[in-house]
Amino acid sequence: MVHGAAAWSEASLAIPVGDLPGDARRLVADEWRHDGARQHAAIAAFLVHAQNLVALGAPPTLIADASRGALDEVRHATACFAIARSIDGEDASPSAFPQIFEASAVPDDRVMALALMAEDALVDGALSQHVALRVLSRLAGRARTADLRAVLQRMAEDEERHAAQSWDVISWCVAMGGDAVRATVLEAELPGRLLSEVTPLALDGRWEPWGIPGERLAAEEYARARALVDAKRGTLRRRHVLGHPRPKPGVPKPLCG
Ligand SMILES: [Fe+2]
Repeated sequence: MVHGAAAWSEASLAIPVGDLPGDARRLVADEWRHDGARQHAAIAAFLVHAQNLVALGAPPTLIADASRGALDEVRHATACFAIARSIDGEDASPSAFPQIFEASAVPDDRVMALALMAEDALVDGALSQHVALRVLSRLAGRARTADLRAVLQRMAEDEERHAAQSWDVISWCVAMGGDAVRATVLEAELPGRLLSEVTPLALDGRWEPWGIPGERLAAEEYARARALVDAKRGTLRRRHVLGHPRPKPGVPKPLCG
């Protein structure tokens, strides 16, 4: 984090979030800046993902989705830093992120590369982005101002699209890589929601009107998103057991719904 640098916090207009108790202003603004840094890392993740899709010969729709996802995350990151500045007046921008280069290697073995991509899409996309969209939707309903509500709703819509696109990627990887990739998706261990995602001071939900989730809200929405992912994996398993035909190569097919 680079404090005093305005490139990202000024990129969005001021986003008033309503009055906060004086001693909480700095803490809530810091939470938004941390979220901005996470959104900045998500830009890198989408860019690497788009590059890997090109490397594996993916169809144009998937590459376009990933590229647009990076632009969505630019908007999310600037909104987060702008919200923080609206709260405590401090300009900040994300630090440089050279780690992007560490994540960009694709294994030479094509099936292994497809399996890794499918697993990433399951954990970081289908699950994490589904949790995010649900948490953001509920926070939008509790937002103190119309400006904050609009930002949260727009982010939720973006995350909903990203989560759906992750299933398209998983379907394509399975169609291309066959049973080994399918097995990876079915057996992948999904992370439990980490308590560290909710800052201790926000655990009781006191900052939810300012867009910071509490423990209960975060746990409920993790459980709902997890149930949906488990149900979709169940569909994938049953299709395989029943011997349904595989999707035609190059044509992503939704797993269900
Ligand atoms: Fe985002």
